[in-house]
Amino acid sequence: MRLVALLPVLTSASLDSRTVLSLNRRQQSKIKPITLTKFGVTFEAEVQVNNRTFFLISDTDSSDLWVPVADFQCVNSTSGQDVSQEECQFGGTYQVPNSTEYVANQTLGVQYGTGLALGKVAYADVTLNGKVGLVDRTDDLGDGIGSGVLGLGFPALTSAHPGTELDNNTLPVNRVPYDPVSVSMYKQGLVESWYSFAIERPPKNATSGPGGWLGLGEMPPVAHPDDWAIKPIEVTDGLPDELTGWKRQITPMTLSVDGVTWGNPSSNSSVTNSTTFQAVVDTGTL
Ligand SMILES: *[C@@H]1O[C@H](CO)[C@@H](O)[C@H](O)[C@H]1NC(C)=O
Ligand SMILES: *[C@@H]1O[C@H](CO)[C@@H](O)[C@H](O)[C@H]1NC(C)=O
Ligand SMILES: *[C@@H]1O[C@H](CO)[C@@H](O)[C@H](O)[C@H]1NC(C)=O
Ligand SMILES: *[C@@H]1O[C@H](CO)[C@@H](O)[C@H](O)[C@H]1NC(C)=O
Ligand SMILES: *[C@@H]1O[C@H](CO)[C@@H](O)[C@H](O)[C@H]1NC(C)=O
Ligand SMILES: *[C@@H]1O[C@H](CO)[C@@H](O)[C@H](O)[C@H]1NC(C)=O
Ligand SMILES: *[C@@H]1O[C@H](CO)[C@@H](O)[C@H](O)[C@H]1NC(C)=O
Ligand SMILES: *[C@@H]1O[C@H](CO)[C@@H](O)[C@H](O)[C@H]1NC(C)=O
Repeated sequence: MRLVALLPVLTSASLDSRTVLSLNRRQQSKIKPITLTKFGVTFEAEVQVNNRTFFLISDTDSSDLWVPVADFQCVNSTSGQDVSQEECQFGGTYQVPNSTEYVANQTLGVQYGTGLALGKVAYADVTLNGKVGLVDRTDDLGDGIGSGVLGLGFPALTSAHPGTELDNNTLPVNRVPYDPVSVSMYKQGLVESWYSFAIERPPKNATSGPGGWLGLGEMPPVAHPDDWAIKPIEVTDGLPDELTGWKRQITPMTLSVDGVTWGNPSSNSSVTNSTTFQAVVDTGTL
């Protein structure tokens, strides 16, 4: 396995901003293999939702876990037209059990860079009372393997909304926050307060294959040096107040980069820019 990036995410000390994850209590190992798809632009973890297995895009920059339901509507994101389910290319859909408990008077509406996912909010045995979005309308295209998203971000980015009517122009501001799966797991003492990613590049021209590891309070099983660069997760500067809930809180997983060097560092053609800037840690490409 060729390791190209090892990214331990250590969160800050306050309880609510700690992030942890385990996907299934019955699973012994807290190290999950990740599958890469789309030539290595998406990284998917295997997740059980009420004992059904899905490959979900592991996304540190969103906080909802959702799967498409059996009768979901696929939408062409360019034209806005309803199209056949095949166009969305999901690896599978979720047959909602009759016993499903929905969250009353709430609606899921997630706005990604690439599209929307709209649906109902329900409880599922994902990992211990984790809430799951049951998406019935999406233009978020799949890849033949994946079927939804595993949001690993902070609570401020969850996307349940009050009421049963969604105004998708106000999705970023009109939220009912809840504990994402990862926070729920931590609060129940099932996992530690951090997780790790090791992501792998695909062999040339391979559309999918092994993509690395997601470690739930554990280091991934790959060789690594111990000279870590450690940066705190911090409040993102310059976000509009309505996106941060009118308070100074961690929204995306942001850290400060101290500088950038490009070119070959051992030649005199390399250039360093030491201006600090904030960057978002985002494993998803949604
Ligand atoms: C999942 O499977 C286990 C073991 O087969 C079973 O005990 C449990 O009730 C199932 N859970 C759901 C939600 O179907
Ligand atoms: C989506 O709509 C656009 C514009 O009408 C069209 O060019 C494109 O082929 C459609 N894509 C799919 C997957 O149907
Ligand atoms: C679920 O509900 C449908 C419609 O009411 C019914 O036909 C079906 O038998 C139920 N399935 C189970 C497993 O109870
Ligand atoms: C549902 O939510 C909407 C929006 O917050 C609210 O106006 C309405 O009263 C709620 N309905 C019920 C039955 O709780
Ligand atoms: C907004 O949401 C509705 C469904 O509630 C959908 O029909 C519509 O296409 C969405 N608008 C956009 C711009 O995606
Ligand atoms: C990758 O695909 C391109 C275009 O099909 C081909 O020319 C090239 O030889 C392939 N490279 C490898 C390493 O297979
Ligand atoms: C580095 O710069 C020196 C002086 O400008 C030059 O002599 C040398 O060839 C350069 N080395 C490389 C690797 O470019
Ligand atoms: C150095 O980086 C900063 C922050 O990214 C940027 O604003 C600035 O333009 C860069 N300077 C140069 C000379 O590239």
